[in-house]
Amino acid sequence: MMSKQILSIQSSIFGDQGVSSGLAKQLVDKFVAEADYQLTVRDVTQDNIPHFNAQTLSDIADGNATLADALIAEVQQADVIVIAAPMYNFSIPSQLKSWFDHIARAGVTFKYTELGPQGLLTNKKVYVVTARGGQYQGSGKDIDSSYLNVILPFLGLTDVEFIYAEGVNMGGDTRESSIQAAEKQVNDLVA
Ligand SMILES: Cc1cc2nc3c(=O)[nH]c(=O)nc-3n(C[C@H](O)[C@H](O)[C@H](O)COP(=O)(O)O)c2cc1C
Repeated sequence: MMSKQILSIQSSIFGDQGVSSGLAKQLVDKFVAEADYQLTVRDVTQDNIPHFNAQTLSDIADGNATLADALIAEVQQADVIVIAAPMYNFSIPSQLKSWFDHIARAGVTFKYTELGPQGLLTNKKVYVVTARGGQYQGSGKDIDSSYLNVILPFLGLTDVEFIYAEGVNMGGDTRESSIQAAEKQVNDLVA
């Protein structure tokens, strides 16, 4: 039997040192070690996923959108997707937004029906690991989570769980206690 696939989307500008990167890696490692998942890592910031533009659209029309096709295939093949989504200027990293721009393709990852849009990336579990310098969970300023709560279900990714590490730049012991709480949450997820 083919082993299940886990896709790790990393997007911190701090690479492996990012808070979101570390937590996401911990979660992914658990799936690999405890449930024998096969891992694909896509670091959208290191790979510098370019802005989606008119050329990308015409490449898609011509069947030449190599990068977008590869990014879509990675998502289609995944059973579990772990998205590390740090908050930068109240949003997700622009490279992660570009990743969404590349994978959202009408007729492939979503389609329009008489009843409205329908996501085509179904039967996948998504974990979003977010890290913030401040504390915004549940507030109107939690724009990155609001966006992810719209774009993911739009693509059919309806089973989404968030892990928050907040207040990591607030000083005192907020950083440590917040990361520890997130680590515990991660530990309890793949039990
Ligand atoms: C360019 C930049 C912008 C940031 N903007 C915000 C922000 O708007 N709100 C916030 O709470 N923290 C902000 N931070 C702090 C980050 O959220 C924090 O460093 C977090 O650890 C980032 O996740 P990462 O370590 O996985 O990259 C910002 C950090 C950087 C580098």
